[in-house]
Amino acid sequence: MTECKVGILLSGRGSNMMALVEQAHGYTVAMVASDKPAAAGLAWARGRGIATFALSPKGIGKAAYERALEDALREAGVEIIALAGYMRLLSDAFVGRWRGRIVNIHPSLLPKYKGLDTHARAIAAGDAIAGCSVHIVTEELDGGDVLGQGEVPIEPDDTPDTLAARVLAAEHGLYPRILSAFVAR
Ligand code: GRF
Repeated sequence: MTECKVGILLSGRGSNMMALVEQAHGYTVAMVASDKPAAAGLAWARGRGIATFALSPKGIGKAAYERALEDALREAGVEIIALAGYMRLLSDAFVGRWRGRIVNIHPSLLPKYKGLDTHARAIAAGDAIAGCSVHIVTEELDGGDVLGQGEVPIEPDDTPDTLAARVLAAEHGLYPRILSAFVAR
């Protein structure tokens, strides 16, 4: 049986991408792509012999950028897209063409704290529990169906940074597990 081909989009360090590569079960990472040609995660993927694609939308516009990105993903045979610290909003047209086939990891227990600064907001709210969510990507930011969540405690002396580190460790266990289940569904 051929394994489901996953394409990962990232903009930065790529620790979730590394977890998805190292814990791949039932899927293969066929491409790692980025809107930031200097993203650290891209160099790591290249070093592992994974096909990469890098293009900045600056100067060419969103539509041309997304067309080129999509061509590269399709050429690599990608069936499912996993966002892993991809800091750009995909257009509604792109999401529509890949409906139900794009997943994301978000550092909060959705539907709480969509968007940015999730850890600072959870601490400010006095929450006892924080965590991360893997969800389907729709046109609504961080709004699609949740596929799985991981919880961590918030300690009394937590700062946004210490909490982020604890949540990130949970992300690295959650994302590969949920993606494996998702491709097997
Ligand atoms: C993670 O916290 C993830 O939840 C969020 O962006 C961050 C990416 O980190 N979407 P990394 O690049 O995977 O290390």
